[in-house]
Amino acid sequence: MRNFISVKDVPNINDLVKKALAYKSDPLKHADIGKNRRIGLLFLNPSMRTRLSTQIAAQNLGMEPIVFNVGQEGWALEFEEEAIMSGSTVEHVKDAAPVMGKYFDVLCVRTFPSLKNREDDYSELFIKQFIKYSGVPVVSLESATLHPLQSLTDIITITEDLNRPNPKIVLTWAPHVKPLPQCVANSFSQWINAWGQANFVITHPEDYDLDEQFTKGAIITHNQEDALKNADFVYVKNWSTYNDYGRIYSNDPEWMLTNEKLAITNDAKVMHCLPVRRNVELSDEILDGPSSIITRQASNRVWAAQAVLAEILQSNGLAK
Ligand code: CP
Repeated sequence: MRNFISVKDVPNINDLVKKALAYKSDPLKHADIGKNRRIGLLFLNPSMRTRLSTQIAAQNLGMEPIVFNVGQEGWALEFEEEAIMSGSTVEHVKDAAPVMGKYFDVLCVRTFPSLKNREDDYSELFIKQFIKYSGVPVVSLESATLHPLQSLTDIITITEDLNRPNPKIVLTWAPHVKPLPQCVANSFSQWINAWGQANFVITHPEDYDLDEQFTKGAIITHNQEDALKNADFVYVKNWSTYNDYGRIYSNDPEWMLTNEKLAITNDAKVMHCLPVRRNVELSDEILDGPSSIITRQASNRVWAAQAVLAEILQSNGLAK
C-alpha cells in the first residue's frame, strides 16, 4: 500500500480489519515500528475524531505526529497547475508539498469539497497534488469525495457486532440544516460494496442520489420504512445533492430515525460518523439509547488508523 486514499488501495479488507482488531486487543504490540519516523497531519478543514485518533495511532506505533492546521495557520495554498497567482493564494502545492515531504516520512491530509463545482471536487485535485508533489506516502483524513479511515472503522465496528452472515446494512439519509459533503456516504457505499458480505440498502429522498460509481451494487429506495425492515445495522448520515450539486432540497424531519422506526428492524444497531446534530439528524432517544454503537464506532477510529499506518510503514520500507 503506497497511499491510502480509497478502498482501491486495500488488497484485502478483512485482513486490514483483523489487523485493526489485533491493535485494539494489544495497542502497543508494535510500539517501535515507527520509531524515528515523523508523520505530518495537515488539516485544511476542522476535525476532532480524525485528528486525535490518528495522533494516538501514530504514537502507538512509535511515530512522532505533528499537526499543522494549514487551513487556519498556513499560507493559502494554490492547487491548479499553471495558475497565475495574483489572487488570494500565496503558495503553490508544488512548492509546499516537496518541502513537507522532506520534513515528514508520511503525510496525512484532510481537505473538504467546496460543494460549488462538482467536476472540481470529484477530480480530487487537492489530494492528488499532495501525492504528486510530496514524494512520500499520503493518507487521506477525508478528501473531497471519500472518507476511507471512517469507512474502515465502520466495517471494523460492524465486524465486532456481526451475529449472522450477510447482515442487512441500511444507509439512510437524514435531515440537516446545511449542505454537507457526500464523502461519508460515498465512502461507506464503496467499502460495503467492495467488502461484499452484506445485503446493502441505501434509502434517501428523491433527488439525493449519490454518484453511481460508489453505490453500484446496492439496492436504492426512496421508501425508508421498506429499507429499515429486518435491518441489522442502520447507518445514519446526511448528504447534500449530487446531481444539482451541493444543495438542500429537503429538510423533512420525517426522515429522522426514531425508536418507533427502529421497531421494524432486526434489533438494529445504529451508527453515525459524528459530529451529529441532535434532534435534527438523529433523535436523543436513539443517541442515548441501547441501539446506538456510535461511541464505540468513534473509538474504533484509533485502530483503523493504526492498522493503516502500520501497513504504510511496512509496505514502504519505513518500519523498524
Ligand atoms: N467522523 C469524523 O471524521 O469526525 P471529525 O470530523 O471530528 O474528524
